[in-house]
Amino acid sequence: MPPEPQRTADFATRLLAWFELHGRKTLPWQHPRSAYRVWLSEIMLQQTQVATVIPYFQRFLQRFPDVCSLAEAPVDDVLALWAGLGYYARARNLHRCAQRVMAEHGGEFPQDPAQLEELPGIGRSTAGAILAQAYGLRHAILDGNVKRLLARHGAVAGWPGAPAVQKQLWTQAEARLPTTRLADYTQALMDLGASVCTPRQPSCLDCPVAGDCIAYRQGRIAEFPAAKPKRLRPHRRATVLFVRDANGALLFERRPPSGIWGGLWAPPIAQEGEDWHTLLTQRYGLDCVVEGQQPALLHRFTHFDLELHPLQLRVDRASGVHDCGAVAWITLGARAALPGMPTPILRLLSADAPEQRSLTLT
Ligand code: ADE
Repeated sequence: MPPEPQRTADFATRLLAWFELHGRKTLPWQHPRSAYRVWLSEIMLQQTQVATVIPYFQRFLQRFPDVCSLAEAPVDDVLALWAGLGYYARARNLHRCAQRVMAEHGGEFPQDPAQLEELPGIGRSTAGAILAQAYGLRHAILDGNVKRLLARHGAVAGWPGAPAVQKQLWTQAEARLPTTRLADYTQALMDLGASVCTPRQPSCLDCPVAGDCIAYRQGRIAEFPAAKPKRLRPHRRATVLFVRDANGALLFERRPPSGIWGGLWAPPIAQEGEDWHTLLTQRYGLDCVVEGQQPALLHRFTHFDLELHPLQLRVDRASGVHDCGAVAWITLGARAALPGMPTPILRLLSADAPEQRSLTLT
């Protein structure tokens, strides 16, 4: 059941008063506040903490000061500036989105939620955040922090990832919207979720809306939001093939656009059950011998764990690398020449040669 109007007006008023004292008001995307800057920050913040995002945001803006410069840049430049932030589909969507804003909206982010949500990488909550923060429009957000806050405040049962629960949370989020100061209100919700209504040991005594928080009043904070129904986390293994030629150059390939690390540069990777020797001979015409093995590295993706087993290989006989248009041999010297490598690969490379942190494209 949606909260009564009296209580909802109250909720926003108390939140805004709290924001005056405790909210974040000096984030780089707040000054100046444009749709481009808000959009960029929201995409970067989708899976990443504010402190991590800030230097990326600033570097990005220096290189791409507006949507036009981003749209016109090669996607490799975008990926290179994104390297280290993870979830690279975000960077490719960012680039595609910029191109569509230029082509279809004259370089201005639309103010219509349906049009905004139609753009790559922009879901309902991100659209709400852009509309409220950049244009001051009356739209709700529902990111992870806000789901938790509203699930507690309204005692919304069930796992927030379930569509029916999500629907109730959206209703709650919309019912609480104020009629003015939408940008501050939106930031206040995010900040309260991040600093007070935290996942573990929330500081309810400091919370401006604890007075009518149902979970708090009933002493049931720990019950909300309900946990995701348990499912075993898949665990995969793969072998990273560090293939060196006679000059010590390493073989890199550009990964296909979809799948893990799509579009980034990495050594060939043999999936579990895939024979690395066959892979190298069939794909590259390379006959290789094993030179050594390093310890495995465990990398956690959102939906599975990946155990990466590095294998050091030397080319014994080459019938010529087949030209796949996406292959490079690089030698130690200036790794910056490769536009974006997955972080675990960089870690394996520095574990392999800690004193040589850079490689050159040959
Ligand atoms: N997460 C998404 N947007 C944010 C913002 N503006 N401030 C803090 N965290 C956020």
